[in-house]
Amino acid sequence: MTEALRRRAVEIDGLSFAYDERVLEPRSWTAGQSAWAAELLDDLPLGPVLELCSGAGQIGLLAVRSHDRRLVQVDASEAACEFARLNAENAGLSDRVIVRCGPMQEVVLPDERFPLVLADPPWVPTSEVEDFPDDPVTAIDGGEQGVDVALACVDIAGHVLTPAGVCLLQLGTPEQVDEVASYVGERDDLFLHVDDVRTFERGLVVRIDRT
Ligand SMILES: C[S@@+](CC[C@H](N)C(=O)[O-])C[C@H]1O[C@@H](n2cnc3c(N)ncnc32)[C@H](O)[C@@H]1O
Repeated sequence: MTEALRRRAVEIDGLSFAYDERVLEPRSWTAGQSAWAAELLDDLPLGPVLELCSGAGQIGLLAVRSHDRRLVQVDASEAACEFARLNAENAGLSDRVIVRCGPMQEVVLPDERFPLVLADPPWVPTSEVEDFPDDPVTAIDGGEQGVDVALACVDIAGHVLTPAGVCLLQLGTPEQVDEVASYVGERDDLFLHVDDVRTFERGLVVRIDRT
């Protein structure tokens, strides 16, 4: 018999985020990525925010709650999309949050434009996934070096960022930052450059700007 799913909630910066074992537990340190995004939104061109790999949605919701921007959240997991919608509703933000469920390569169109892209891809190397038995594999497995999905996020950012737009990409290690920086350096066609990196309790966030 299948064990019943146990719905839980975690509070981060005054908002409550529901989740269960089908999605990654919202981690409190990721509020640092949201805070950086909120700082940038004061000055970025007008337009909606795109969040790739949004999971239960806390990073994007915390980023836009004190701005009036629309937020488009994208995740391939049906369960993550259900929780992102519920969490937007609980935060009183559902009137300006749209959740698109599906692989980001399919549900983000190349002719869309966003001044800010948030990306929180899986970044655990495949060989280390078994060290995290409580986390859903599809939420954490980033491929051999852990950057496969992160590089796909960079490709999308290269297509959809407006002039002067910014992508804030979450990664796990300084080595992954180097991998992403050399990829961005090689891909002249994306018109991006790495501008800054901030280190948080359990991960890093790379700022990638439109060149
Ligand atoms: C590390 S979790 C991040 C979840 C949430 N942002 C957080 O920090 O708690 C990565 C998320 O990426 C999603 N994902 C993985 N590959 C994807 C893809 N190709 N397209 C869209 N979502 C994807 C997974 O379903 C998972 O929810």
